[in-house]
Amino acid sequence: MTTRATPDAGNPVPNPAVAGPATGGSGGADGAVPWWRDAVCYEIYPRAFADSDGDGVGDLAGATARLEYLRTLGVDAVWITPFYPSPLADGGYDIADHTGVAPDLGGPADFVALVERAHALGIKVLVDLVPNHTSDLHPWFREAAAAEPGSRARERYVFRPGRGEHGELPPNDWQSAFGGPAWTRVDEPDGSPGEWYLHLHAPQQPDLNWRNGEVVADFERILKHWLDRGVDGFRVDVAHTLFKADGLPDAGPGQHQDIHRNHLMPYYDQEELHPLFRDWRALLDSHPAPAGAVAPGERVMVAEAGIFAPERLARYVSPGEMQQTFNFAFLEAPWDGAAMRDVVEESVTAMQAVGAPVTWVLSSHDAVRPVTRYGGGQAGERRARAAALLMLALPGAAYVYQGEELGLPQVELPDDRLRDPLWERSGHRERGRDGCRVPLPWEGDAAPYGFSTAAPEDCWFPQPTDWAGLTARAQEDDGDSMFALYRRALRLRRDHPASDAALKLDGPDSGEWFGFERGAGLRCVVNFGSEPLPLENDAEVLLSSAPLEGRTIPQDTTVWMIFKEYHQ
Ligand code: GLC
Repeated sequence: MTTRATPDAGNPVPNPAVAGPATGGSGGADGAVPWWRDAVCYEIYPRAFADSDGDGVGDLAGATARLEYLRTLGVDAVWITPFYPSPLADGGYDIADHTGVAPDLGGPADFVALVERAHALGIKVLVDLVPNHTSDLHPWFREAAAAEPGSRARERYVFRPGRGEHGELPPNDWQSAFGGPAWTRVDEPDGSPGEWYLHLHAPQQPDLNWRNGEVVADFERILKHWLDRGVDGFRVDVAHTLFKADGLPDAGPGQHQDIHRNHLMPYYDQEELHPLFRDWRALLDSHPAPAGAVAPGERVMVAEAGIFAPERLARYVSPGEMQQTFNFAFLEAPWDGAAMRDVVEESVTAMQAVGAPVTWVLSSHDAVRPVTRYGGGQAGERRARAAALLMLALPGAAYVYQGEELGLPQVELPDDRLRDPLWERSGHRERGRDGCRVPLPWEGDAAPYGFSTAAPEDCWFPQPTDWAGLTARAQEDDGDSMFALYRRALRLRRDHPASDAALKLDGPDSGEWFGFERGAGLRCVVNFGSEPLPLENDAEVLLSSAPLEGRTIPQDTTVWMIFKEYHQ
């Protein structure tokens, strides 16, 4: 057994930073590699990140004050999840004003200050664009609910008469992603039971009608608003659901549960998305940039699209559309060498066909924390470390969700603190996503660990009492910590830019281990199997997710190495 790919694995792979433009339609100015192709972007969920005013809720000024920490970590950009005015029926993804700032998070000046500070530190800023739905308290929806069937106000949303003799049945069989029907009936202005409106998520999140010109124009206004405030890009929420198939046909069984490789859902992946994304891209590429922001042609859009067929997903990042799309198949893959290898190979192949990088992701505000997902306890932590080094060696971009770099586990919160609509809508069968949205522990021995000056029970969510060893401060001082691993990996990644050449994975068919060349001489090997894997004599280990056993890579360990011939 060998960790070495081929006898000539030591041949230096051309470095795209010096070898010329990346392939595909998304090259940067002057043929330079665009910043986002290999960027590491850090997701901030602001209410759980850092609280500056002692009300127990994280806010924009708190985030600004902690940007220095992110520079130390070494990220290229931050993505801030919705900080807009919202009744919080879905953690801020129910927006009442897409160009405002929620009063508990600060004011417009706090956002400008955050962007300025980030840019001064060399960190780019992405914000969330949530085009599929508004809050039911958005002025448009209030107007629509009070208006007549067929009115202009109702045309901005998806209102339909019900089925059944008296319209008492929903217009079709579509289900909400949070459980229950995707339709809610309104009372007409005269008090009689009336039409139904569509909400693919909570009832407080009515879906917009993307075939309506006012909706299209309003989102252009929203994009320009944030571009004028210096943002460098947008993460586009549920980008695959904006258009619904003509006639709103029934979807059949397995909805939302069965999206893997199934692009036939009548509310997923419709053709009309692509011209819309091309229009947005043209807007991003042409709208003037204020001082400090990237040039118009360097702005980025990243799609959150729950599409699992790689060739369908690749369409979102084909030339002239978005630049990135999260690779959720990687996040959802079990800790298994064969499964991981398949996902990596399929994703890279599909994205290379359109000249786009893969956008790797291991966690988010919607997913169970990796440490817990991979088994919990020490085994889960060991695998999460190995997965992080795998992700960060792969060519492409990576998104890191706050607390991932601290190895935080999923938290089991008390029932009476749960906020996720999934909890109520599932009849208390699914606890939802709150367990990964617990405030970050920054320093100190007891909750709230520097997150806030509020009492622990008054914070956004209560933190566990055993997190003293997981605080950012404790980990910054510990060379073996998860934080230290991420920081070193991010630094080495920059020193060893990935090659744009085809990625070739090697290793046994069983998937017990696999390896690949990142480019510029760096080789990454992950050992999933129980047999220790011997290192080549001339391999010099740069970074390892767990201690080596002599000259072997133990189980559930990823190693980054170079070979002696690379030394110049
Ligand atoms: C996206 C968000 C998620 C939200 C949903 C509806 O999936 O990431 O948090 O619940 O969209 O907006």
